[in-house]
Amino acid sequence: MEYEKATQDIDFVPASVNMTAEQKRVAYEASLQELSAVITAEDNMMVRMVTINCILKSKFSYYFWVGFYIKDGERLSVGPYQGTLGCKYIPFGKGVCGTAYQEGKTQVVRNVHEFPGHIGCDSRSQSEIVVPVFNAAGEKIAVFDVDSTELHSFDEIDREFL
Ligand code: SME
Repeated sequence: MEYEKATQDIDFVPASVNMTAEQKRVAYEASLQELSAVITAEDNMMVRMVTINCILKSKFSYYFWVGFYIKDGERLSVGPYQGTLGCKYIPFGKGVCGTAYQEGKTQVVRNVHEFPGHIGCDSRSQSEIVVPVFNAAGEKIAVFDVDSTELHSFDEIDREFL
């Protein structure tokens, strides 16, 4: 390989392809089955997060970036993810992730360009869903974030299953 080419990033994440409501339901049901088999008895948080990312990324063609931002003092720090380089830190209340964390509510963003304060880690991202994550004691510990390179990838079906 030529030197110039070796210094360029490899395009290792394919562009997103939206799925129909029926395809989504089938994929979420299959994911839930796999996840319950693989992580129900698993109490290591990192192992759970890594496994969730892997199983979902392998079933959803619009999951461009999938991962967690974890509470770290007074901010969120990037946790396990699959996708292109993510932002490292997000203050509470900032961007889609910080908003989902602060409000403790899922954010479904059909067009990231219409979300005030959206943080663009990869300029290809067009739509996004962020779900707050609670531990068994009910404490808010993280958010789960999925980005798509297509508009309108996320809807009430994603909110319901995630
Ligand atoms: N878009 C997010 C930032 C995280 S990246 O999408 C991986 C936000 O606005 O909070």
